[in-house]
Amino acid sequence: MTDRKTIIRSVGAYLPARILTNEELAKTVDTSDEWIVQRTGIRQRHIAAEGENTSDLAAAAGRRAMENAGLEIGDIDLIVCATTTPDMTFPATAAIVQQKLGMHHGAAFDIQAVCSGFVYAVGTADSFLKNGMGKRALVIGAETASRLLDWNDRTTCVLFGDGAGAVVMEMGKPSEPERGVLATALRSDGHFWNKLYTDGGPSSTQSMGHVRMEGKEVFKHAVGMITDVVYKVLEDTGHTIEDLDWFVPHQANKRIIDGAGVKLGLPPEKVVITVDRHANTSAASVPLALNTAVADGRIKRGDLVMIEAMGGGFTWGASLIRW
Ligand code: ACO
Repeated sequence: MTDRKTIIRSVGAYLPARILTNEELAKTVDTSDEWIVQRTGIRQRHIAAEGENTSDLAAAAGRRAMENAGLEIGDIDLIVCATTTPDMTFPATAAIVQQKLGMHHGAAFDIQAVCSGFVYAVGTADSFLKNGMGKRALVIGAETASRLLDWNDRTTCVLFGDGAGAVVMEMGKPSEPERGVLATALRSDGHFWNKLYTDGGPSSTQSMGHVRMEGKEVFKHAVGMITDVVYKVLEDTGHTIEDLDWFVPHQANKRIIDGAGVKLGLPPEKVVITVDRHANTSAASVPLALNTAVADGRIKRGDLVMIEAMGGGFTWGASLIRW
């Protein structure tokens, strides 16, 4: 284990071309744009094309992250893919991504922590790299959540969308000791598994199941769990809320993000919001939001960036990064 930190060298993202608006959705299920916007802040979501799988989205986002770093697949020796919507029960989607990117070496595996998957993947890659188990990681969050929905259930189908985001992680240079992942806190409490789950799976029903959720219960716990891990990483690094330049939360619901922002005392202009355009893309939501704020010039080298997520399990986590 080294004292050096891992850095996030680049970000990339991919969104399927097809956009499904609330108005369009309201033609097939008993809902309205007004209800969805008021309760969630969501206005539209992207939907993967027929035959376009999670690995396709993940590979596209991964390619863009590598391009943005001026790297090729030969420079990567670890692929970690956070997803709840794998192409198949096995092999890991990361292995299929490895094949699509033309990589024969290194290691590839998936992380299943639902909406917290990307934060778990960053924490995992951080540990792997610091321990010398790989030199450079492609860390991806990718989902085709649309395939896991019951499109007749208006309480869940309006909330989710498809997409992928990726980052390249590597050890920081000794000449830039301040840069990198400063701390990560990961938590879970499986006693809440039945608040947000799929009503099927290979072992229990030999099928895939659909998303089922007690929305109010999720909402009730979300803000407290998010603030719990945010305070933990601040405490571990000796930082305060005032030090943060950007807060990049999991994009489940604008009301949850606003609630966490108010509880933390964060000015709204420091909070990156993409849920209006992407809906909840589960493990892809944080890297998609990161990509948006890096691409539009908000997140810059040297900024202090907090990422956080909470989701099924329940799982939750946060990571503090000096960009
Ligand atoms: N359109 C119109 N009406 C709807 C819809 C819809 N899409 N969905 C539910 N309703 C109705 C309900 O049937 C209910 O009607 P009733 O009063 O006649 O019974 C009414 O709206 C209110 O329903 P509630 O469930 O009480 O609505 P609530 O204010 O709790 O909002 C929501 C629901 C948006 C799901 C909210 O609970 C929530 O945001 N929870 C967090 C869940 C979440 O974000 N999950 C994402 C995955 S977890 C994660 O990523 C953190």
